[in-house]
This record gives sequence, C-alpha cells and structure tokens, in this order.
Amino acid sequence: MKAFRRSLYAWYRRHGRRLPWRDRPSLYKTVVSEFMLQQTQVATVLPYFDRWMKRFPGFRELANAPEGDVLKHWEGLGYYNRARNLHRLARTVNAMAAIPESPEAWRELPGVGPYTAAAVTSIAFGALAACIDGNVVRILTRIRADGTAYRDGAAAARALAPLADALLPNERPGDHNQAMMELGATVCFRKRPLCTTCPVVGLCRAGRQGDPESYPVLAAKPTTRVGITRLWCRRGRRLLLHRTSGTARRLAGIYELPEPVHLGLAAADPADFGPVIARRKRAITRYRITETIHRHPDPPAQKALPDDSGLEWIPLDQLPAITLSGPHRKWVEELVAAEGNIPGKPGNPGDGSG
Ligand code: ADE
Repeated sequence: MKAFRRSLYAWYRRHGRRLPWRDRPSLYKTVVSEFMLQQTQVATVLPYFDRWMKRFPGFRELANAPEGDVLKHWEGLGYYNRARNLHRLARTVNAMAAIPESPEAWRELPGVGPYTAAAVTSIAFGALAACIDGNVVRILTRIRADGTAYRDGAAAARALAPLADALLPNERPGDHNQAMMELGATVCFRKRPLCTTCPVVGLCRAGRQGDPESYPVLAAKPTTRVGITRLWCRRGRRLLLHRTSGTARRLAGIYELPEPVHLGLAAADPADFGPVIARRKRAITRYRITETIHRHPDPPAQKALPDDSGLEWIPLDQLPAITLSGPHRKWVEELVAAEGNIPGKPGNPGDGSG
C-alpha cells in the first residue's frame, strides 16, 4: 500500500496535467470542475470552465444569476441537470452560515453523489474519502487481477470501496484521489493501457501478467434504440423551435427542433410531416437515438399556435442568443447552411430585394 501511494504520488507531482482547477485551487473551482467532469472528458471541459469562471467567478455570482444565463454557459456540455443542480447548490451554499466539510453533508446537496462528495471534500478540505469512478474501478481491478463479474460499475465501486479506502493516505487525500483519476485518464486506458510508463506496474498483477485489458469484468449494458421524428419548419428568416417546459426533468428551458406531437400531428401519419431532409444519430447514456428530420410543407404561424405550445418562431439571427441543445445547434447550422440562399434576406441574390 505504502509503495503504491508513494510511487503514484511522485508520478503525479511530475506528470500530472496542469489544469485550471488545480492552479490555485478553491472550493468553488473544485465544485464547478467536478460537476463539469461528470460524464465528460477534461479536453471538452476546459473551454467551458474558463468561460464559466469569467462569467460566474464565485458561488455568490452563480447564485444570483438567472437560470437562462447559467444554461447558456452550459450549452453543448449536455446533461443539463448538472447545470441546474450546480445553480441550486450555489444558492444553497450561498445561504449557509457555514459550509459543511464532510462527504456525508455534501451528499445532501443538489447533484452531489458519492463520487462528487468524496472528490470535493478530499480536494478542498482534506477529508478522508476515496473517490471511485470507472477509472478507479479499472485501476483497482487490474492491480488485483480481480476477475469478478460485476453487474455494473456501481456494483464494482461498492465492492472495491474497502480497497480504495485502504489505499487512501491520511496526508493529502485529495492529491491521491486526483492522482488516481490522472492515472486512469492518461495511463491506465481501457484499451491499450501504457503499462510500460505506469508508475505502479510493479505492484499491478494484471500489468505483470500482461493482460490488463481483461479487467474489469462488467456485464455488458443493454442499449436501447430509439427513433425520434423532428420537423424543420422554416419561413423565410425564421425557424420554429420548441422550448421544453421549465418543469421537465430533462432539457427544461432548452430549445430543440419540434416533434410532430408539439404541432398536434399524430405520429401515425408520417406522410403529413413532409420529405425527409436529414437523419442524425446520437447516443445518450444507454440510448442509441436516430432523429429523422422532415421539412414541414406548411408550418403554422405563431398566432395559430396555442400560448402554451412551447413553440416559438425564432429569427435566425437570434439563434446565437438562445440555448439550443448541442446536437440541435449543429444540425440547425448545417441545415441552414445547406439551404444557402435565405429568401427575403437583404443582399441575397434573387430574393426580390433588388
Ligand atoms: N475527473 C473527475 N475529477 C477530476 C479532476 N479533478 N481532475 C481530472 N479529472 C477528473
């Protein structure tokens, strides 16, 4: 245990990446980075983190910001509940007389699970709490050449908690946790791990046996295929978008291309939707989603839409100002570009404006 900790820490000091939340760390930076890093890689998070810190430099500024602004700064990172929870967390923390320092107390806060509670409190307060995520599960099962068939990552994390706790040093537990994350992210890859440069390969059974890719053994997660129909409703320089209601669990307050049901069209009548102009695939957690976009032949005017439809005709030049879900922004930009000449737009040839 001691040799493992020492080798890992020495390696981390030398080879750990210099990341903005590690530079003059604060509780706030730690919390923001941990929320952004849930289900998202460091490289994706970096530009978001910088922009976020400029706009919301502390809990107070974040707590006082309107939700629309918060979501706008999260646009493209996905899993928007993280942004809403972080916002709620800032409001809660901002209203507290004293900020709690234990992982148990942090788990009571919005959006904070066992991993984030351990990460935040060990890094910011030196709490003795081991972080266990997919990276750490991979490292620990390889060290032991643990071939147990775990039902899923959460089951593996529970089973490996005693080993993770035993490895945690009393001094600088936050650095140890970050060193484990770093090893998982930059050396102990799922496929083709870099065992020759690994600081703890001498203490790793799977590494010595030469079969690290055999661990961990996790039951394959079933995936579910989903088809979604979207409508492309364009009138000149406006596009009809649907804004998910503020009370929805997913995507609340975020715009997407409308589905037929939003316009009162029955899913059974695809002939009414117009010709297919694009098909796009994406994956969210275990769902493999195919979105089929039809060009609606005769979309309704704003005044023909009920007030509570969530549908809004948005001028194309306003698109940068609203919060669109990441994939939808990309598709909208592609489709607008593909349509090229925008009727009625001054300066476009052949639009009748002279
Ligand atoms: N993943 C989760 N937390 C992290 C951190 N603090 N540094 C790098 N990667 C991480």
